[in-house]
Amino acid sequence: MDFLPSRRLQAFSYFLLASGVVLAHSDNIPVRLEECQENFVQVGCYKDKTRPLPKLLLNMRNSELRTGWDNWEEFLKRLACRCAEKTRREAYTYFGLQFYGECWSGVKENVTYDNDGISRGCVGEKPRKRCRHVDRVCVGKAKRNFIYRLIKPTSSAGN
Ligand SMILES: *[C@@H]1O[C@H](CO)[C@@H](O)[C@H](O)[C@H]1NC(C)=O
Repeated sequence: MDFLPSRRLQAFSYFLLASGVVLAHSDNIPVRLEECQENFVQVGCYKDKTRPLPKLLLNMRNSELRTGWDNWEEFLKRLACRCAEKTRREAYTYFGLQFYGECWSGVKENVTYDNDGISRGCVGEKPRKRCRHVDRVCVGKAKRNFIYRLIKPTSSAGN
């Protein structure tokens, strides 16, 4: 298991492991960010060798990232939210944050995002620390995607 989004879920999955049940995917807890209208869940950290998400939707490396290091957590949340918005607008479902400031998605992203296998090369709300289960937002280093899946906005739940 590469990644767990919350302590409670981790405790629960230890219980499952201890009782012989393997929790395959722990990606169902919505990420809630202040001032972000989009809802999404964490999927995990994956390698990118073959561009499993073929389309660059947004690149903040050359603009905001330069100053973003000084306010990393805010930068990362903004990147995740704007990437989620773009992904929704283009009618994709999965998106990946890569190389500290890029947003990737694209055709068939929902079946290809894990093509190159899982990775440990993603960082979280502390830019020099590996993505941990307490981090709401994470991003891949070079050639790694941290993958999220969009979920329906709360306002349209039940439609
Ligand atoms: C992936 O997305 C396409 C287009 O929205 C959809 O037709 C297909 O059923 C999806 N596949 C999976 C495995 O979710």
